[in-house]
Amino acid sequence: MKYDSLILACSPRPGGNTDTAAKLIADTLEQQGFSPEVIYLRQFKIIPCQGCQKCAEEGLGHCILAANDDAQMVLEKILTFRRLFLCSPIYFYHLPAGLKALIDRSQSFYSMWIKEQLKVHRGQAKIILIAGRKKGDKLFAGSQLTLKYFLSTFNYSLEYLDLRGLDKVADLKSNSTILEKIREFAI
Ligand SMILES: Cc1cc2nc3c(=O)[nH]c(=O)nc-3n(C[C@H](O)[C@H](O)[C@H](O)COP(=O)(O)O)c2cc1C
Repeated sequence: MKYDSLILACSPRPGGNTDTAAKLIADTLEQQGFSPEVIYLRQFKIIPCQGCQKCAEEGLGHCILAANDDAQMVLEKILTFRRLFLCSPIYFYHLPAGLKALIDRSQSFYSMWIKEQLKVHRGQAKIILIAGRKKGDKLFAGSQLTLKYFLSTFNYSLEYLDLRGLDKVADLKSNSTILEKIREFAI
């Protein structure tokens, strides 16, 4: 069992605001003596769930796609680490397709969890969602609901930091107020 942190950066855009947040979290944790692992989700192959429901019959590790891509490996990391930082942009009021594909592929873990066959310890997830728009009451609502049920399978409690008005690739890098908020959130 590892108690260090997994940092999951979920933007398709390299070097953008999500990556800046993920790197800042990693630097902050390293300064405190931790050795977090950063994963850039776009670097991995995630095939969308095909809804075959075979995992409901056979359970964890029996996703028919498991040998063909990296979803199982990433999901097992989420299961093993007990501190997760998940950073993602908002796309069309929700999570980007790559992250949603990973979430759908956790159905095989859900199938075990629902049968009480998934052994998990309690973990803490800190979620940073980044939106380009400054306004919108429900900008983060859909993503938060999805993440709540995704991570409940892995027995994570959730805390959120919602960031608005960050759109261009370097917007976060030049915003010292929000950078400081992220640093505080990481601790
Ligand atoms: C396909 C797409 C859809 C987007 N949809 C939204 C949206 O619904 N609401 C919003 O506030 N920003 C939206 N944005 C803006 C991104 O959330 C914003 O640019 C964010 O900073 C991107 O993060 P990144 O730099 O880490 O890639 C969208 C951007 C793209 C490319």
